Amino acid sequence: MRLGQRFRVCGEPKRAAGAGAQQGPHPPCEVLAFPDRQPQYLEVQPIQLVEREKREESYDGSKSRISAGNNEGEVAVMRGIEYQLATARDTLLHHPMYSALKSLHQLRIFMANHVFAVWDFMTVLKALQSRLTCITTPWLPPPDPSAVRIINEIVLCEESDEIGPGEYLDHFRLYLIAMREIAADTLPAEQLVEALRNGCDVEAALDSISIAPATRRFVSSTLEAAKRPTHELAAVFLFGREDLIPLMFTRILEMLDASGLQAMAFRTYLRRHVTIDGGQHGPRAQDLLARLCGEDPARWCEATQAAHAALEARRALWDSILVSFHENANN
Ligand SMILES: [Fe+2]
Repeated sequence: MRLGQRFRVCGEPKRAAGAGAQQGPHPPCEVLAFPDRQPQYLEVQPIQLVEREKREESYDGSKSRISAGNNEGEVAVMRGIEYQLATARDTLLHHPMYSALKSLHQLRIFMANHVFAVWDFMTVLKALQSRLTCITTPWLPPPDPSAVRIINEIVLCEESDEIGPGEYLDHFRLYLIAMREIAADTLPAEQLVEALRNGCDVEAALDSISIAPATRRFVSSTLEAAKRPTHELAAVFLFGREDLIPLMFTRILEMLDASGLQAMAFRTYLRRHVTIDGGQHGPRAQDLLARLCGEDPARWCEATQAAHAALEARRALWDSILVSFHENANN
């Protein structure tokens, strides 16, 4: 079957009639093609780019040899998935947590929880890298050099971003710096890292720190996703992270502006992701997912379901943070 030719919303698969009908445990998740529904990350406007980011945009943008959506069928399928995820995504992007985030104390609460999503993002990314590239010795040629390029480019940025001339830092530690600037509690996240560094099992490490139950559930859902088949993990990476973050972080930046909160390091972190995820990582991750799912409708369906679960996990995290705002309303 050629991608983009058969269209049906996942969850209510319309079985084709006759001998060619597809059966089995994974009904065809045929994807709606809505030419008028543009991928939303394309609408993101980079904000206040620093010169370094402008150079990267011009270098890695339209001139990149890796470009997503260069196949009509893939574009149609991707738009269909976006349509299926639209409700969950819109719910998340219009979550009341953003508008409730008004005070420094609330920002501290937000960051003290969100830092775990910043940390577990790297598990998703590194799980993809471990599967798509060769990180063991002796080296063996990975099957898809283009997928290797995509994931290594993203790892290069996320794990060793250039934060100044000749200075490099992973985004997790960049986030910790932003937390310290506003005196948010970094201790649980640092204790988690320390416990893992000392060889502690991840579940035991999570048990050993002070972490909100909903945040723990979010991290657990991410760790579980990291065990899923690669195309599902890539869908979580795309729709639960790289595609989502630019708009999500734009909402938070709007909140910071409206509330007059300075948080300069946090603003830098957010702007960096709006730029890099919207301009580069999102399209790269889209291309990666298309490569992994190919023309297999069952894979596209599984990818969609995994993405939906990731969005729901994020919504539950935002719900919990919002409740924490209300519980600490007097602070
Ligand atoms: Fe990214």
